[in-house]
Amino acid sequence: MSPGPGIGIFDSGVGGLTVVRAVMDRLPRESVIYFGDTARVPYGSKSPETVIRFARESAAFLAGKGIKLLVVACNTASAVSIPALRQEFDLPIVGVIEPGALFASRATGSGRVGVIGTIGTISSGAYQNALRECNSSIRVIAQPCPLLVPLVEEGWLDHEITRLVVEEYTRPLVAEGIDTLVLGCTHYPLLKPVLSRVLGDGVRLVDSAEATAEVIGDTLRSRGLLRGSEETERPDRKFYVSDIPLKFQEIAQRFLGAAVPLVTQIKVGE
Ligand code: DGL
Repeated sequence: MSPGPGIGIFDSGVGGLTVVRAVMDRLPRESVIYFGDTARVPYGSKSPETVIRFARESAAFLAGKGIKLLVVACNTASAVSIPALRQEFDLPIVGVIEPGALFASRATGSGRVGVIGTIGTISSGAYQNALRECNSSIRVIAQPCPLLVPLVEEGWLDHEITRLVVEEYTRPLVAEGIDTLVLGCTHYPLLKPVLSRVLGDGVRLVDSAEATAEVIGDTLRSRGLLRGSEETERPDRKFYVSDIPLKFQEIAQRFLGAAVPLVTQIKVGE
């Protein structure tokens, strides 16, 4: 027996595995089909037009696998492509921006919320708009942090250089007295320890990956698509990438918390 259609999750590369991890923790009965567009990463420094094209191609690949829900795990792609994807695909679609903004709006006491992300995510204004939509009195202080993705991929999570870079990027947020910080990039959950050390106990970190997994669960439940305890077939987990799988496999463990045994290379956008 097959476990039925799964959740399709895509990202520009390996970072979206933080969302897969959160989904596997909270929704362990669900099958997941993951696509990392490793041939075209990074998305964070590319134009919205290019990212939308990549996102449509990634979504088309996953939709072709017969998924029941599509998750845009990449913050940059979520920031710019969700309206285009909703128009094109007849599937429930969950991005990471709205869940992250919603959780941050609930977490803040002072109404001063910081957001960090790629240049593409921050310049799109998507988190800023989503936060203000949750609560129009929230003051949002947004900071692009382009050096953080390479530092995380290098594995320098606990490195002095990373601490200095984090200090530099967060200085304007601290100066504004934020009490909540949205981790608006797939890679940043791995920096929680250094961010907590630099920002101290007075700043709550909102992990968009965790917030998104909650919203995915709610969306499946409300549509009667959530697998229940009566479903005994083991869930499937399949991983696809667009470049050779070697580097992805090497660093996947850090993001997923488990090894990714089988990764298949596919072609998109041709
Ligand atoms: N996945 C991207 C994001 O969350 C980070 C890596 C990239 O720039 O592609 O924005």
